[in-house]
Amino acid sequence: MCTQLLELAGHGRGRKALDLGAGAGVETRALAAHGWRVLAVDLDPRLPGRIADLVRGGRVAAVVGDLRDVSLPSAELVHSSLVLSFTGPADFPAVWARIRGCLLPGGRLGVDFFGPRDGWADVPSLTILDRPQVEELVAGMDDVRVDEEEWDGPSYGGDAKHWHVIQVLARQPG
Ligand SMILES: C[S@@+](CC[C@H](N)C(=O)[O-])C[C@H]1O[C@@H](n2cnc3c(N)ncnc32)[C@H](O)[C@@H]1O
Repeated sequence: MCTQLLELAGHGRGRKALDLGAGAGVETRALAAHGWRVLAVDLDPRLPGRIADLVRGGRVAAVVGDLRDVSLPSAELVHSSLVLSFTGPADFPAVWARIRGCLLPGGRLGVDFFGPRDGWADVPSLTILDRPQVEELVAGMDDVRVDEEEWDGPSYGGDAKHWHVIQVLARQPG
């Protein structure tokens, strides 16, 4: 998804990107390599160490924080992969409102969610969305592209899992 988002958004030319739930920092690195100034956010306190070289370079900042309450600056690009479903159903609407609110006119987002056929779909703490619900999230945005993928593979803990991931790319009007 990050590759497609970068193709659509083009070279950053110093524009601001948010990588929400940056994890190991793989996509943060890709964004920085394409000229974006990146704010990488993750709950995991290991994030700053994982991208310390980028932070030293001055074009990337790392914030250890929870998407449910961290403040988000305005940005021309928002990327969040395999993260937002972990903000549970009670918190997700407010998280989503802040994400939509920080995206500048003409800015692009790329995010994904676990779908209803995912092996974790019945876990109450996860936000599970079907395709119409994902489309509803980006109502009013331009250049909306929704894609679904399903595969069998190991979960983060190594157990067998069926994955159903719905991704959406969209552009803020203006
Ligand atoms: C499956 S990893 C995905 C990492 C990366 N985006 C990727 O695609 O490889 C999920 C990440 O989201 C982070 N995360 C989960 N809930 C979060 C929250 N509420 N606030 C910030 N980060 C969160 C986890 O710490 C973890 O690094």
